[in-house]
Amino acid sequence: MVTLGPKVLLVDDEQSILRSLSRMFRMNGIDVATADSGTMAMDIIRKEPIDLVISDHMMPEMSGLDLMVQIRDTYPEIIRIMLTASFERQVMQKAINQGEIYRFFVKPWNEDELLDAVRSGIKHKSDTVGEKNRIVDELTRSNIETVMALAEAIELKDTYTKGHCSRVRDYSVRMARAVGLPSGLLIHLVYGALLHDCGKIGVAESILLKSGKLDESERKAIEYHSILGFELTNSVSHLKTASLFIRQHHERWDGTGYPDGLCQDEAHICSRIISIADTFDAMTSDRPYRKGMAIDKARQILIENKGAQFDPELVDLFVSILDKKGVAGMLENSYADDAPTMPVILFVDDELPVLKSMYRIMTAENYTVKTASSADEALEILDRQNVDLVVSDQRMPGGTGVQLLRTVKLKYPGTVRIMRFGYADLNETMAAINEAGVYKVLMKPWNDGELKVTIKNALEWQHMSRTCISDISHV
Ligand SMILES: [Fe+2]
Repeated sequence: MVTLGPKVLLVDDEQSILRSLSRMFRMNGIDVATADSGTMAMDIIRKEPIDLVISDHMMPEMSGLDLMVQIRDTYPEIIRIMLTASFERQVMQKAINQGEIYRFFVKPWNEDELLDAVRSGIKHKSDTVGEKNRIVDELTRSNIETVMALAEAIELKDTYTKGHCSRVRDYSVRMARAVGLPSGLLIHLVYGALLHDCGKIGVAESILLKSGKLDESERKAIEYHSILGFELTNSVSHLKTASLFIRQHHERWDGTGYPDGLCQDEAHICSRIISIADTFDAMTSDRPYRKGMAIDKARQILIENKGAQFDPELVDLFVSILDKKGVAGMLENSYADDAPTMPVILFVDDELPVLKSMYRIMTAENYTVKTASSADEALEILDRQNVDLVVSDQRMPGGTGVQLLRTVKLKYPGTVRIMRFGYADLNETMAAINEAGVYKVLMKPWNDGELKVTIKNALEWQHMSRTCISDISHV
């Protein structure tokens, strides 16, 4: 049975204490679970969402203090209260400093005080951690989705560069990872790479798509896209850093670029990365006035322009990744350098043919695919291994998809959730969005292509959120 209300875990090796505390909390409408050891407590925490733990200190195997430290390290959002038989200054000090506990009580406890502490602890958790996570989650998703939509809109204006922005992003991320760029900068590089040409929105299509030679005023009109892109993005708070890269993506290492004539590392490293990625993709893609160049030739041009147009070290880096992975390898799963295994997707549906079909489609896309025919089976899989994304059906025996995904959200907030409905029910759809925080809702019958794109985007969003979560939270 999936628990939906706040839940307190009581840990004590004395059964009489567990019974007495359980009775008190239940009489006051607070759901409890009990454990007679630290090991058992950790088992429970791994299996079900727990909001607050009250633990004794002196217990066999694992002390309460060790348990608190372990919970702080693995589930920091769980509020921790210690309830010990004797007041030991050292234990209290360690509990506060190492276990970062919320409150410390000595037995025999005062019922009202303990109840107040638990209620305020639960409120504190939902007010702070829960709210912060929700806001960060929503901000990250909406920011990335907005930028992606904008990048696609820019490509619509110039149909010959379809896919250009996302390829520039993938090449750039590859280089950034290889160069060891701080993870906090990565999201800004992604924004900058996706939007590097957003200023083209203000350039006439007759000039943008012109196949012949440009005259002086037309050339200036095109060059103005760097400044216009900067101006468009600089006033948007989460694009402020990226606006600099957008302005500088046509600067050159030798100082002859535009708009500011910056030389060498006067231009930001992200701008220098985007410049190489942009030029390489522009050379190798078909344009209105010519076919895409062969990879080897474009590679050679990059090398010949080391120290002139491009940062020589970054060109060497780009060429070494290109030689190792090829273009397809550079564009495929560019976020995977710190994730050695392929993303794991879990499909939950009580219809076997659906599971078989999902398995076949997504293993062909090189994902690791797990299947479960019920919510319980899905939770067992999630307990055993890391899952990046769950796609669940709504109607299943033993619990709905919304209930399952809500539990997943509480226990594994980093796992992306997608909900599939066989029919359109507004209330259930709202619950999926509001309670289970799903990334997307899909209606049956689904389109295989839509499902693949949704999953790819969801995983990309998850990766960027994980990498940049601390950064985004400051936006
Ligand atoms: Fe450009």
